[in-house]
Amino acid sequence: MKRSLVPVAFGLLVLATVAGAATAAMPFVHGPYSGAPSATSVVISWVLSFPSPAELEVAPEDATTTTEPFPRILDVAAASEGSHGQVHVLVDGLEPATAYVYRVVIQSGPEIASSPIGRFKTEPAPGQTVTFAVLSDTQWQWEGTNRLAVIGDAIAFDAARSGGFDFVLHAGDLVETPNAFYWDPWFTSFESMLLAAPFVPVLGNHEKNSVSYYNAFAHPSGGGQGDERWWALHWGDVVVVGLDTNADRADRILEQQAYARAELSGPERWKFVIFHHPVYSSDAYHGSGYGYETIYHPIFVETGVDIVFNGHAHNYERIEKDGIVYLVLGGGGAVPRELAPTRVDGSVVAIENHSFYAHVSAAPDKISVDIVSVAEATETTFVPTPGELLDSFTLTASGEPSVSSAAELPLPDKTQTASASLAPVATVSSVETQTSSQMSAVPEVASGRETQPAAAAPTQTQDECVMPSIAGLIALLALLAIAAWALLRAGN
Ligand SMILES: [Fe+2]
Repeated sequence: MKRSLVPVAFGLLVLATVAGAATAAMPFVHGPYSGAPSATSVVISWVLSFPSPAELEVAPEDATTTTEPFPRILDVAAASEGSHGQVHVLVDGLEPATAYVYRVVIQSGPEIASSPIGRFKTEPAPGQTVTFAVLSDTQWQWEGTNRLAVIGDAIAFDAARSGGFDFVLHAGDLVETPNAFYWDPWFTSFESMLLAAPFVPVLGNHEKNSVSYYNAFAHPSGGGQGDERWWALHWGDVVVVGLDTNADRADRILEQQAYARAELSGPERWKFVIFHHPVYSSDAYHGSGYGYETIYHPIFVETGVDIVFNGHAHNYERIEKDGIVYLVLGGGGAVPRELAPTRVDGSVVAIENHSFYAHVSAAPDKISVDIVSVAEATETTFVPTPGELLDSFTLTASGEPSVSSAAELPLPDKTQTASASLAPVATVSSVETQTSSQMSAVPEVASGRETQPAAAAPTQTQDECVMPSIAGLIALLALLAIAAWALLRAGN
């Protein structure tokens, strides 16, 4: 099977990418999609409904608009046995600071079938603006109105309109349960978003540190399982460090503290961190109290982190502490959750009942963040709000922590109501750090990758929290000791 990449006009490529066109009869169960971007390489991944060799075609985006395209064709063998059909192809030798397009071509019976066009960029040079999206807590809401598809399509459209995103970050709880029953519709729902830019996630508690998560995604190099449980993406003027707050065994925390400190101490102008559990949150159900204000916040202050992206709490909140902006972004489609009547110290904006994502643009002189509302949402309703902003703020290179506020934005009535109840902006001196005795202990879910579990039916249960308290553990140990003492007494 030898063929050339057919020249396609840029506009058509954008349309094909955004619409995810002509895929209904395609044999792609997952993807194609990209990950682990670098200055000269990327990983392209897919899963087919049947094992088949394929050709992966890659070309600089500009080349597809000329009469002499410059395709690069890689012959890819069928997925190996035991891989669950997963294919990862490392494409290296690329030019830095270049936009590329790709597609996967397979022989399907007598027909040659081509995937939709995907896009990625290689690492830009310093001084170039880096633009990306962040979402979290997508989980499973594709029945009825497919909330994930609405959000994914909005991000893909935003990427096309913005000249392409450098990557899309996800702060965890991608799926409700990490098995094929959930992964398959998740990939289908996010087809256009995954084609739009490399996807770079961290683990949520719902991923359960599953082997299926590691099988599916190629991360930037880092540490922990497969050197990808936590990772760092050094990208022009930007560094993003991804951590796993489920890996909270003492040695894992120490490893991640050292890793974060080292990776965040580089020369990049703008520093971001992403992990699942919120350092600060006014969520009525989860709230703060996981201990990360003690474990990580001092390192972020020391290294000059600009923004920390979290999820887990299914609402939006912007908290400012010691010049660091903490964003809770748990509005990726999962059922929204209420905020507590009282806001945590430093809470600037807190809004519930929306599905949303963050659009981040890191220019040489400032970071601009828009929180884009996709819909007003409750457990049973989902009313699209295309183009509306929940929040918008800017960080300047001069060290100013933040300017602008939600009150300056053209917000819908319901959002204005939510904004009216916001806590006032706290001064940095009002930081209230919790002591280690207030921390919850989180058992590490697995010491290694687990076997993919059997499929299970979806349930509309509340977000599972795997965080027992230290007090609870002590009480349990005390009960066990009393029971053992009683048994010994009975035996005597
Ligand atoms: Fe969640």
